[in-house]
Amino acid sequence: MGTRMKGKVALVTGAAGGMGAATARLFAREGAKAVMVADVLDAEGEAVVAEIKKAGGTAGYVHLDVTKEAEWQAAVDKTVAAHGGLDVLVNNAGISGSAAEDLYDTALWHKLMDINSTGVFLGMKYGIAAMRKTGRPGSVINLSSISGLVGQAYIHVGYNASKGAVRLMTKAGAAQHGKENIRVNSVHPGLMPPMRTSGRTADPVQRAKTLKGVPLGRAGEVDEVANAILFLASDESSYVTGAELVVDGGWTAV
Ligand SMILES: NC(=O)c1ccc[n+]([C@@H]2O[C@H](COP(=O)([O-])OP(=O)(O)OC[C@H]3O[C@@H](n4cnc5c(N)ncnc54)[C@H](O)[C@@H]3O)[C@@H](O)[C@H]2O)c1
Repeated sequence: MGTRMKGKVALVTGAAGGMGAATARLFAREGAKAVMVADVLDAEGEAVVAEIKKAGGTAGYVHLDVTKEAEWQAAVDKTVAAHGGLDVLVNNAGISGSAAEDLYDTALWHKLMDINSTGVFLGMKYGIAAMRKTGRPGSVINLSSISGLVGQAYIHVGYNASKGAVRLMTKAGAAQHGKENIRVNSVHPGLMPPMRTSGRTADPVQRAKTLKGVPLGRAGEVDEVANAILFLASDESSYVTGAELVVDGGWTAV
């Protein structure tokens, strides 16, 4: 068991699978005081918790639809009541825009903005309020994407817009909460294992085409993103706030 998360209480949204689950597991392995796994997929989320506990970590599950303000309040309250505070919040829950046939579908625009942007806004609202109450240093990590930095021809414009909003909400949070020693940073993964909701980004032909432009020449692994999140969550990044940490094998460098 490592010590990089020693004494810290963390809540990770969208942690029933993918990068959120990898992050929750890593936080527990690094000695977090407690990891709250939050998602709308209760059975899968409970399974991640069981796995963490079996490995000797401390974790709990909370049902949290990130678009619902009342559920945010309840999830944060539950975390604070059970574990005495909140030190790290990872706003990871999200949906893809790569399955859309119509890249200007209005209903999907609203859904993307609701989950990917408003979900992060509400997380910052309730998570940071809890951090301020304890007066301990806090770290918020918001999952954006390379799609929050550059456009793609095959993804709904709302995905880029929602992830771009996350990038700048992060910088606003850094500006507003620095004096309270609450840091806010964004992480920007590139080509990763497909999301549950992926369409074209899961297509082997599209992936092979994308990889031609990635200097490291391969897709990333969920633990490679979790490691970047861990750095931002831990005290090793104590002077890092408002930063955008790109984890894309060099995709956006060329
Ligand atoms: N996989 C990629 O290629 C990639 C690349 C860049 C950025 N990202 C971002 O990283 C994050 C994690 O993606 P992933 O690859 O692990 O995807 P994933 O689909 O495996 O995981 C996303 C999780 O979010 C949950 N979720 C969806 N809507 C929710 C809601 N309203 N409330 C609570 N939870 C909800 C899902 O149930 C799921 O468990 C997302 O924000 C995604 O946009 C992914």
